[in-house]
Amino acid sequence: MSTIMNPPAYKAAQEKARALLSSMTLTEKIGQLSQFGTSIYSDSDKLPDAHYSEGEVGSYLTIKGAQVTNAIQRDLLTATRLPIPALFADDVIHGYRTTFPTPLAQSCSWNPELTRRCNEIAAKEAYRAGLKWTFAPMVDIARDPRWGRIMEGYGEDTHLCSRFSEAAVRGFQGDGETVGKDRLYACMKHFIAYGACIGGRDYNSADLSPQTLHDVYLPPFQAGIDAGAATVMAAFEDVNGVPATGNRYLLTDILRGKLGFNGFVVSDYGSVTDMIPHGFAEDTKDAVRLAFEAGCDMLMAGPAYNEHLPALIKEGKITMEQVDHSVLSVLTLKYLCGLMDEPLVDETGEDCFFCAEHMDAARRAACETAVLLENNGILPLCTERLKGKRIALIGPLAGEEGKTHLLGNWACLKDPNRTVSIEEGLARALGASCELVTAYGCGIRCENTAEAHEKESSSVKQAAEIAARCDAIIAVVGEEAEMAGEAYSRSDLTLSGHQGEPIDALIATGKPVILLVAAGRPLILTPYKDRVAALMLIWQPGSSAGDAVADLLTGAVSPSGHLTTSFPVCTGQVPIYYNHASTGKPALGKWQFESKYQDCQIAPLYPFGYGLSYTSFAFEDIRLSSDKMTAEGEITVTLSVRNTGNTDGAAVVQLYIRDLVGSTVRPVKELKAFEKVFVRAGEAQAVTLHLSARALAFHDAAMNEIVEPGKCKLWVGECCTDERHEFDFEII
Ligand code: BGC
Repeated sequence: MSTIMNPPAYKAAQEKARALLSSMTLTEKIGQLSQFGTSIYSDSDKLPDAHYSEGEVGSYLTIKGAQVTNAIQRDLLTATRLPIPALFADDVIHGYRTTFPTPLAQSCSWNPELTRRCNEIAAKEAYRAGLKWTFAPMVDIARDPRWGRIMEGYGEDTHLCSRFSEAAVRGFQGDGETVGKDRLYACMKHFIAYGACIGGRDYNSADLSPQTLHDVYLPPFQAGIDAGAATVMAAFEDVNGVPATGNRYLLTDILRGKLGFNGFVVSDYGSVTDMIPHGFAEDTKDAVRLAFEAGCDMLMAGPAYNEHLPALIKEGKITMEQVDHSVLSVLTLKYLCGLMDEPLVDETGEDCFFCAEHMDAARRAACETAVLLENNGILPLCTERLKGKRIALIGPLAGEEGKTHLLGNWACLKDPNRTVSIEEGLARALGASCELVTAYGCGIRCENTAEAHEKESSSVKQAAEIAARCDAIIAVVGEEAEMAGEAYSRSDLTLSGHQGEPIDALIATGKPVILLVAAGRPLILTPYKDRVAALMLIWQPGSSAGDAVADLLTGAVSPSGHLTTSFPVCTGQVPIYYNHASTGKPALGKWQFESKYQDCQIAPLYPFGYGLSYTSFAFEDIRLSSDKMTAEGEITVTLSVRNTGNTDGAAVVQLYIRDLVGSTVRPVKELKAFEKVFVRAGEAQAVTLHLSARALAFHDAAMNEIVEPGKCKLWVGECCTDERHEFDFEII
């Protein structure tokens, strides 16, 4: 169970909160359940008295900086009868000032410890700016790359996402009993199944079986709650017909009852009043009633709770006990993090922003999250052999203009001026020995006019001419920051604008092309896969982007990222995820009557778990402790990972299973354990993986959670399609 959400520190904080609660007016109580956003104070660092003189505000979101938060806090404390400090919150998703790779990129490290470290730094910087609470991590399973918010989560797999979920929470909150200095309260979001929006269209309905909800979407929340997550955010969409924010079954029965969550729930931005256009609530008052009854303790952002809860209490629709319960949760967390004793932050603390330690952590994270997809041997570039040579660096994402995009979306207070561009990083790494020549190529987006296209064509031509005079070409393509993230769903995952044109022109020069893809989500890379010398996915790598890219291209670091979402061959193949249910007519490519499309290949372009390195690994001497286990038992898998190449590198050992016959249809494969291990060239490392029978539990047709006896397959491999090492075991 959770560390911080349990006695004794929590109990002590709760006692203090209880005492305070007994002295509060109804307005003050409801104030603690109301969060306000930036719009009400836009140009001023002071709030109009009316907004808090009676204690109407408990929390603020998106206020930036220690000076401003302190100024507001001071005003609030002097103007109110009971000086209860506000909880300042923001979306600290992948860094505060120093920006780390996006969460989806982080998951490709297969190293949850990396995420813990990134969030620890993010929490420190945000805390120094006056924040105590982040709206992260997002642990929504995302099986559809058309959904723009896929960039904010940890991919398509439940087990992997759960491991990152707990690491993310620990990074923000720490492992202690309190969430004190340099820490933030985490907020697991979006509860729940927001990633299951139909067609990948943001805010769209989630229509899914109870089994899928429980077996696929809930476990990452359970993992985060077990790691101590203090708060949870309710989702926007309706789940099987009931909006998540007004869904008592989800917010109370499941979240609190089943998952054991005992912190507080905040709505999403406007998700309470969204229940009106949903056609679920008659008006704002009705929406407030539905949300509050369901278990949504705090409203983001605005006065709807302040305005409507008093009447609802008077009418007996909401009880004082319900209100007290929610207020107690909020106040307890305010005591627990030390806010009540120390409401102000030290304004000199912000000097840690972008410090060498944080930039270095960002660089290492970016190195670990890139995924090498193709390499004909051109990489790593040998700096010795490059002496006197000329390298073309093509594309707007490579230079100054690209910096903001390499930081990605949801990069809180991102600063392109404190970002290392790819050009800068490469120039630094390559030194004066080789010449780096740059050209624009073409834009990431392009207006659909003949004039714009003509301009692009001439720029592409120019880039190709420059590239033709070089020895090798590095081209950077992908997405702008504001092409992935909230409300950035896409119906077409091919490269936007005319980005394919420069790639074709560069390939036509006959010079080797190293294609770097900087994007928030999986894109269609089918046309380039076999035509370039190397293909590397760098995602949106953050503040130290250029240095990390240089480390990877020159071989200072061997790539070790592996995909955590399947990369489709074409957009029509979506949704394609590796752990789909077994069908009665499996796609084996043997005859017509199979579950497949007529007009594209069965497999994705790159499968889940895939990623290359500059070295190679052999998994040797794989042993199972037993080929049988009981429903409470465990099998241990031991092996030796040998680095069979000439370069040091990290392997990702992945353990998949298949439950061969089940009382409900089982997935074709499921990841159940993994371990990343660094191995020096020529050396070997021992790895132990644990597979408990509990990890194979699922919900049957009657919604009982069961571990079923029966035969299973087990594979230990380097990606989900690697079946070189296959074993049988049985649950007895
Ligand atoms: C998003 C949340 C976010 C909130 C506050 C909403 O639109 O869905 O994830 O935390 O805004 O910025």
